[in-house]
Amino acid sequence: MKKILVIFYSRTGFTRKIAEEIVKACNCDTEEIQDIRSRKGFFGFIRSIFEARKKKLPAIKEMITDPTQYDLVILGTPVWAKNISTPLRTYVAEHRDQFKSVAFFCTMGSSGAEKVLHDIAQLCGRDPVVSLSLTDKEIKAQGHKEKVHSFVKAIV
Ligand SMILES: Cc1cc2nc3c(=O)[nH]c(=O)nc-3n(C[C@H](O)[C@H](O)[C@H](O)COP(=O)(O)O)c2cc1C
Repeated sequence: MKKILVIFYSRTGFTRKIAEEIVKACNCDTEEIQDIRSRKGFFGFIRSIFEARKKKLPAIKEMITDPTQYDLVILGTPVWAKNISTPLRTYVAEHRDQFKSVAFFCTMGSSGAEKVLHDIAQLCGRDPVVSLSLTDKEIKAQGHKEKVHSFVKAIV
């Protein structure tokens, strides 16, 4: 059986919710990327936009899982100012040589997913097995279930 790891960053919980559903469906390992400096509140929001636009690599907490031990690493991020969230960018920059194969998912308010999914592939230096994008509206209305199901079917 394929060994799968889900790595994700989530500031407000949408990406976490999808990650948890994927983990449950695949019965696989997971680890959440954690900020060192808090992004809570208005100033955290503004800093996140600034970082995302500038493609910054903020420090993140040390990760426990070893991606080399997995056949597939699934990377999840929210869309920030039409860009990858910077904590995920840092993770990929630090680990991109350690992935055997990859799949991606992202969550967003309304737009930017196509570019973000393309940018993650560029950063990883490889195309994903499959990718998924969801809006907050879809997730709130539980309209994401079918898409998550198809995503999981494509990877297991
Ligand atoms: C700093 C910041 C920038 C954002 N930029 C965009 C954007 O460009 N396009 C979009 O559709 N949503 C944007 N959003 C909304 C998030 O992508 C969306 O709410 C996402 O589901 C949040 O995921 P999370 O709850 O896992 O943090 C932005 C949110 C934040 C905090």
